[in-house]
Amino acid sequence: MSNLKEKLYEKIAEWRPRTTRLLKEHGDVKIGEVTIAQAIGGARGVKCLVTDISYLDPFEGIRFRGFTIPEVLEKLPKVPGSEMPYVEGFFYLLLTGEVPTMEEVNAVAEEFNKRKKVPQYVFDMLRALPDDSHPMAMISAAIVGMQRESVFVRKYNEGINKMDYWDPAYEDALNLLARLPEIGAFIYRLKYKNGDIIPPDPKLDFGGNFAHMMGIPTPYDDVSRLYFILHSDHESGNVSAHTGHLIASALSDVYYAISGMINGLAGPLHGLANQEVLAWIQQVHEKMGGKIPTEEDMKKFVWDTLNSGQVIPGFGHAVLRKTDPRYTAQREFCLKHLPDDPLFKYVDVLYKVTPPILLEQGKAKNPWPNVDAQSGVIQWYYGVREYDFYTVLFGIGRALGVCANIIWDRALGYPIERPKSVTTAMLEESAGIKN
Ligand SMILES: CC(C)(COP(=O)(O)OP(=O)(O)OC[C@H]1O[C@@H](n2cnc3c(N)ncnc32)[C@H](O)[C@@H]1OP(=O)(O)O)[C@@H](O)C(=O)NCCC(=O)NCCS
Repeated sequence: MSNLKEKLYEKIAEWRPRTTRLLKEHGDVKIGEVTIAQAIGGARGVKCLVTDISYLDPFEGIRFRGFTIPEVLEKLPKVPGSEMPYVEGFFYLLLTGEVPTMEEVNAVAEEFNKRKKVPQYVFDMLRALPDDSHPMAMISAAIVGMQRESVFVRKYNEGINKMDYWDPAYEDALNLLARLPEIGAFIYRLKYKNGDIIPPDPKLDFGGNFAHMMGIPTPYDDVSRLYFILHSDHESGNVSAHTGHLIASALSDVYYAISGMINGLAGPLHGLANQEVLAWIQQVHEKMGGKIPTEEDMKKFVWDTLNSGQVIPGFGHAVLRKTDPRYTAQREFCLKHLPDDPLFKYVDVLYKVTPPILLEQGKAKNPWPNVDAQSGVIQWYYGVREYDFYTVLFGIGRALGVCANIIWDRALGYPIERPKSVTTAMLEESAGIKN
């Protein structure tokens, strides 16, 4: 058994009694109530999900297993010669809650290496899709196409004990995650580089190999590591994480769940926002004839967008009430590596003018930038200019967090998810309204 799985066995054995006790002895304790606005408004803020992988504080931002983003970037073992940690080590942290040693990171990297061969039929299937297929549809199809390989399904059909469900879920998760960098890079090269595919390099780590297969030199390996880590998880209520959890709660396997979470991520209000940000900035760029806009120019573009009934992509958040630390981490990378890039300057001006405008407009509950406001700019700078592809990068990162959640969902025996619906008439009755 791998180090990671052994460690997970221990952690699960320690954790289970906590969940069991809460359920058996304190199951009736109330942790909140639901208003009509929350029922109509997408369950916003309703406390009805449990995860220990990450927690999103509205004012502090995300913590992965209790660590802030700067702590994660500082504490995890780094790839030799790079600024960023191993994605493999980060996955170890997500799964076990512990910062791994270099030896433990190497063991996870080895695990991924053993599992990363993508079956030929996946490439054949991707090649068979129409040329104008969206990269998110392509990666979703590739993932669900591999469902036939699910270890969970095989074990389930053999009659595995419920307590052991997490083990084949772990196997599926690692098999899938190990393959995602190659599938993502294949989609990119197939769609945008005339099918000129670069084979993987078995010596490289998750992020380094992805950059290699994309055909982009260093520091794009660090960009990839940072990107995958930052996008991995944002507690379980966001559309992609929640979709993954929901699908897996029916004991659909990891392939079905991750394909579904990718589909949720593909929406413009969620993962697609990073491409929307860039498209919006490009429009401004064109209107300005390439000149960096002044704050006054930018204010006008922001107001024009709002007045035409559109949102400012990359700003606002359903939970956060301050600048997203994932935005800040990427901004720091930009300040170090691309301070004079014109698009970065656009984002910088946008950062200055947009929050006061959104506050003045008085609709958005959070006027501050989110992760998507910055990420497209970095990709553009390093030559990934096909912004349809950006959400695939988000999806590879998000798969790390959703897989970790699904493994723990099975370990703790979370049941099938089933919130209750009410009718409009019932809400009117609760509100004391007579028709
Ligand atoms: C992220 C987002 C979907 C959160 O939605 P939410 O939880 O419903 O946000 P709020 O409660 O603050 O929304 C209240 C109002 O402010 C508006 N609003 C929120 N963010 C806005 C923005 N960036 N620009 C303009 N208006 C915005 C909403 O559309 C809503 O308007 P409505 O009452 O006319 O429907 C929303 O902020 C948004 O659309 N942002 C732009 C897209 C984006 O960056 N998505 C990536 C998120 S990581």
